Amino acid sequence: MLTPENLFDKANETAKFLLNKTGGRVPEYAIVLGSGLGTLIEDIDIEIELAYKDIPNFPVSTVEGHKGSLIFGMLSGKFVMAMNGRFHFYEGYSMYQVTFPERVMKLMGIDKLIVSNASGGVNKSYKIGDVMLIRDHINFFPEHPLRGKNDPRFGPRFVNMSEPYSKKMIAVVEKYAKEHKICYQKGVYLGLSGPTFETIAEYNMVRVLGADAVGMSTVPEVIVAKHMNMEVFGISVITDIDDPELIQSVNHEEVMKEAKKAEPVVRELVRALVKLY
Ligand code: HPA
Repeated sequence: MLTPENLFDKANETAKFLLNKTGGRVPEYAIVLGSGLGTLIEDIDIEIELAYKDIPNFPVSTVEGHKGSLIFGMLSGKFVMAMNGRFHFYEGYSMYQVTFPERVMKLMGIDKLIVSNASGGVNKSYKIGDVMLIRDHINFFPEHPLRGKNDPRFGPRFVNMSEPYSKKMIAVVEKYAKEHKICYQKGVYLGLSGPTFETIAEYNMVRVLGADAVGMSTVPEVIVAKHMNMEVFGISVITDIDDPELIQSVNHEEVMKEAKKAEPVVRELVRALVKLY
């Protein structure tokens, strides 16, 4: 079991295992591929692929549509590590398990993280299929990933969260998107536990709280990344909208289908960021 007491040693063990596989090469970026966004790996010249089950201390991903493997290879001329499948809190993992890969990334020497996900749009001007650059988040998970004894080798007890998503990275992507006439939204992501999709009343609550989109991942990972002072870029595909008519049909298949459609845009923006930053 992962605990605040053994987390550093376990993550260090896993980091060493992975660096051994890469021959000591440290990826410049880690990329977490969210629901329906797995084809991002088609852009990577894969050199190494490891199933999560073959990586010491790694949890194993279970949710439908998520494959569990870690990929190393070249993307836009840079050596990257991509997680094909993440660990969701709703699957029953502890918060230490959900965020274990980020601990490992940092101990491998990786300082830049890209996270992607699918989310429900609550901003009235959003449409299904929109791509949203995450500029901030609201943590609505029932448990905090940093609760418990703090290990100062990772970072401080009280973490500054004034810039969870790198303004510099967002600026690079926005400039590229504008130059290439790619439409995007920029908004606030509210993360909650799931696995239920929201009731109409809950979608309304999310909007009132100041978010533009809602989903069941990402926030714990970003908190832990910021604990270790990583630079983070987040991107979300709006796969459903809280329109009372439309939302009746929201289900996992629909989410995956819509995420797939927006995938080329997400892929292009991620490739551009890795190349230009
Ligand atoms: N709510 C929560 N998580 C989601 C949604 C949603 O509407 N769409 C995709 N992931």
